[in-house]
Amino acid sequence: MFNSIKLRLTVWFLLIFSIYSIGFGFYLYEKQKWASLSAVDRYLNNQSQMLTGLIEIYKSGKIDFELTEEETNYERLTTLYEIPESGHYYQIYFSDGSLLSTSPSLGSFHLPVSIEKALSEKQYFDFGIGPGGERLRIYTKKFTISGSDLITDNQVVIIQTAEQIEDVYGFINSLRNHLIYSIPVILFIAALGGLLVAWISLIPLKDFSKKVSDISHKNLDKRIGKEKTVMELKELAGSFNNTLDNLESSFEQQKRFISDASHDLKTPVSVIKSHSEIQLRKERSPDEYKKTLKTILDHSKRMEGLIERLLLISRLEQKRHPMKMKRILLNAITGESVSMLSPVAEIKGIRLESMPCPKDIYINGDKLSIDDVLINVLDNALKFTPEGGSVIMKVLETDSEAIIEVTDTGKGIPEDRLQSIFHRFYRLDASRTRERLPDIKSNNGYGLGLSIVMEIIENHHGRVEVQSKEGKGTVFSIYFPKMV
Ligand SMILES: Nc1ncnc2c1ncn2[C@@H]1O[C@H](COP(=O)(O)OP(=O)(O)OP(=O)(O)O)[C@@H](O)[C@H]1O
Ligand SMILES: [Mg+2]
Repeated sequence: MFNSIKLRLTVWFLLIFSIYSIGFGFYLYEKQKWASLSAVDRYLNNQSQMLTGLIEIYKSGKIDFELTEEETNYERLTTLYEIPESGHYYQIYFSDGSLLSTSPSLGSFHLPVSIEKALSEKQYFDFGIGPGGERLRIYTKKFTISGSDLITDNQVVIIQTAEQIEDVYGFINSLRNHLIYSIPVILFIAALGGLLVAWISLIPLKDFSKKVSDISHKNLDKRIGKEKTVMELKELAGSFNNTLDNLESSFEQQKRFISDASHDLKTPVSVIKSHSEIQLRKERSPDEYKKTLKTILDHSKRMEGLIERLLLISRLEQKRHPMKMKRILLNAITGESVSMLSPVAEIKGIRLESMPCPKDIYINGDKLSIDDVLINVLDNALKFTPEGGSVIMKVLETDSEAIIEVTDTGKGIPEDRLQSIFHRFYRLDASRTRERLPDIKSNNGYGLGLSIVMEIIENHHGRVEVQSKEGKGTVFSIYFPKMV
């Protein structure tokens, strides 16, 4: 299920939104809590300042407010602090811990106070519980009062102002509840949004997939139009079109291969059939029967040869051809193939020579397949070199590669055909005349030898190079990775 892009996008969307909304909610809650508390703190500080300004210390040791100068404030303060359990309180202590005055709203209740802390810290805020059991914010401040009738100069007093903060808690708790209830709703909307975004983003992919599935072996020439494809899929469309190009060309090759193979098989079959029919029309002499049977045999051999090559190509292509890889000494294997074809060279009046390397060079390969390669290349050289010419097979080496080079003084290959000769059924003569019919007597090839060579060399991780000059001769160089 997690293989679905839609689901992954939605989960990512949800995850990012969850982290964001939970983080933001937490930040908002904390920020609001401290903003509300600082408002209370500022208010307590103001009250404390006001109290300081208002107190007048009398001989009796009681605190009163300066009516003349701050009448308004006085009235406000008296109302504020007089109602019992109003939530607004103050307390004033001398530095020796004796109580100087408390707000009437406190009644007989005392706010918690630590004289030592107040004296050492100058001022601080903390929490406490009020006379009505309400939560309080308490501001404690050490203050030095200038002289009065009773108190000597620079007398230190500790003023505490307190406010109930139930309202603040009520507000931030309701904010918290709102956040807690709204987060799931936001996440649900985010999930829906994620699904929608994923769905919209995947529409081009769906279109792309539809276009791809519309392509089959019947319309392999069709391509994905890059102009109409979204930017992110352009690269994919390019790679897909390249794959289609390759598929189309190998499909074409296969089709041509089948048609060429059928054509080359059909010809001997037609010859056999027509000869047999003609012979069967009336009684023939033993010589006539013999001649016909000879023709049938020649054409059957050609068919057999063709079928064997086709099967070999198919096995090599499908990597089903048995290969026994082992260490092969190149000087030995080239010598063997030259000796094998010496009688042919002799009959044709061609000088065939093997030039081994002074050093022993080894490759890792299947001996029978490498034999096939050498015989095919030598056979070609002998086939296309006129009488009096020469064919030389050399073994050479570079630092990393072993090379078998076959040089002939034959008719050569035109520059523009050097690659085509490796194509299946390609024969220079046949392609020039557009004539594909094999002429048994002239011992025409099938045009498959070099494609088999190429297939075997590729299976051995090697490569073939060919250089040729028309009328002068050809050099085939076969490279193998050297075995140390
Ligand atoms: N040494 C060469 N000199 C000149 N032409 C060559 C030489 N080797 C190959 N060719 C050309 O390349 C063509 C393809 O060679 P390839 O070996 O594949 O087929 P073939 O020899 O005609 O038939 P097959 O090898 O299947 O019996 C040949 O028909 C020939 O025209
Ligand atoms: Mg050949």
